[in-house]
Amino acid sequence: MKTIFSGIQPSGSVTLGNYIGALKQFIDLQQDYNCYFCIVDQHAITVSQDRLQLRKNIRSLAALYLAVGLDPEKATLFIQSEVPAHAQAGWMLQCVAYIGELERMTQYKDKSAGKEAVSAGLLTYPPLMAADILLYGTDLVPVGEDQKQHIELTRDIAERFNKKFNDIFTIPEVRIPKVGARIMSLTEPTKKMSKSDPNLKSFITLLDDPKTIEKKIKSAVTDSDGIVKFDKENKPGVSNLLSIYSIFTNESIEELENKYEGKGYGDFKADLADVVVNTLTPIQERYKELMESEELDQILDRGAEKANAAANKMVKKMENAMGLGRKKR
Ligand code: TYM
Repeated sequence: MKTIFSGIQPSGSVTLGNYIGALKQFIDLQQDYNCYFCIVDQHAITVSQDRLQLRKNIRSLAALYLAVGLDPEKATLFIQSEVPAHAQAGWMLQCVAYIGELERMTQYKDKSAGKEAVSAGLLTYPPLMAADILLYGTDLVPVGEDQKQHIELTRDIAERFNKKFNDIFTIPEVRIPKVGARIMSLTEPTKKMSKSDPNLKSFITLLDDPKTIEKKIKSAVTDSDGIVKFDKENKPGVSNLLSIYSIFTNESIEELENKYEGKGYGDFKADLADVVVNTLTPIQERYKELMESEELDQILDRGAEKANAAANKMVKKMENAMGLGRKKR
């Protein structure tokens, strides 16, 4: 069976972008693959985090993974910092990666732009991500479009390691959804929807209540021609809303365009708000139950145990390949 790895940072609320670009794919894939899904808390501390809030976000993200339908019997769910092999492998891969290629990463450029003090961890973020992926012999990495460059770098680092030391890594492929690979901001639809956007109206979170969802969709930026039509270039706002609608209902974009022909944005947005609320309500109910149950900790304990067993084996192989420590332990 082929192996899948993916991760989400516990760095704030989980948005519709995270759901559509990542979580929804995970649920579809867990039937057919050996899956590892990770809460990447060590990546989250590459930028400043409030200690208590981070703890809360980690638990909340774990509950959300399960609430959207992740089956802990099929997939391994764990917290990155509870598997020390990630940091160990991350260090080794930092010594294989080049500073120049790290400086070229767009996420690094975006997050460091205009900042005076940028952590070294923000620059060495991708080798840790490569460690996450390569430790499990991953074949496929389901992510949104914004992570594609990091997966390409992971492939480069793995190939370099295999050539220079020993051929131990599987070279992973990226998997990006056909529709919804890049869900856009509701207020600036030429920018991606992001949980770190200071404008709270720009994103919908999986835990927003119905009123908030309705308000955010109602105030979503569109255009003045009043025609519900997909045209990314000229109508980015409407196109983004159409994508979300289509993903949630499985109706094609064309079907939706026909459905709203001759109708204004008001009807379209009101229906979309219903669609989003109806999808998120059962997720939120299950989330509340999980947050109060002991099940969550048991699942994360079991996940860490399974992940540690697999990852430690690969760390040993890496150390042997690089000549660290004493002879074969
Ligand atoms: P993160 O936490 O920013 O996002 C988690 C996942 O959500 C996707 N995503 C989106 N997809 C569509 N539209 C959007 N607007 C949108 N915003 C976010 C992301 O592409 C991602 O799949 N570096 C990663 C976390 C990570 C990881 C890994 C991923 C660490 N190690 C190993 C895969 C494999 C990140 O910051 O994702």
